[in-house]
Amino acid sequence: MTGIPERIKGCIFNLDGVIVDTARYHYISWRRLANQLGFDFSEEQHQQLRGLSRMASLEKILEWGDMYMTEAEKLHWSDVKNNWYVELISNLKPGDVLPGALLFLRQVREAGMKIALASASRSARQVLITTKLETYFDAIIDGHSTRKAIPDPECFILAALAIGFQPYECIVFEDAALGVLAGLAGGFHVVGIGNPDYLPKAHLVIPGFENLSFPGMLANFSEASLTHS
Ligand code: G1P
Repeated sequence: MTGIPERIKGCIFNLDGVIVDTARYHYISWRRLANQLGFDFSEEQHQQLRGLSRMASLEKILEWGDMYMTEAEKLHWSDVKNNWYVELISNLKPGDVLPGALLFLRQVREAGMKIALASASRSARQVLITTKLETYFDAIIDGHSTRKAIPDPECFILAALAIGFQPYECIVFEDAALGVLAGLAGGFHVVGIGNPDYLPKAHLVIPGFENLSFPGMLANFSEASLTHS
């Protein structure tokens, strides 16, 4: 396809809430845990958990509930939440892939790009298998591959390395504010997915992939965002 700046060679996608509608299952499971512990939190608050690791998510929730847990208790309750989450995603269908995401992935592939997944979730690979998306990705970086949670750019750096490119040759697609900051910190071009009010630092913000073409999206990038900083 013409018009795609030759410097862009790879696309790195977050998973939950970007490609598959699984953020809501994380919310359901974490909220169930909070309720079992005697408190609640809102979907608005859950936005702050997007992109965090399992333990970082639990620690944030315990702050909200003003609760203390030993490390052993944190491991126990994070496993409890994960069991509920894994049960929810076991019923995922290809129809749970977010609107337009499959066609967008196909267009990225047709444009000759390499495609990587970068997620803090240790269930990311399971989600891809259940939704039959695994073959779209040349590399998968998940919660088992990373040690540093966003806003550290580790997961995106590992993803770019796995597909053989430099950060300035890649676009990161992220729905979490901390994920956008991580992509910028790593020197990537960053497309935010969702509400622009939450993602002010992204080079470009799109509501989602529905009715969006990959070449059309690139055309909206300001030249500044494609310049290798
Ligand atoms: C973990 C967190 C979850 C977060 C996800 C993606 O998933 O538990 O809240 O949304 O990373 O950042 P898990 O490894 O538990 O599947």
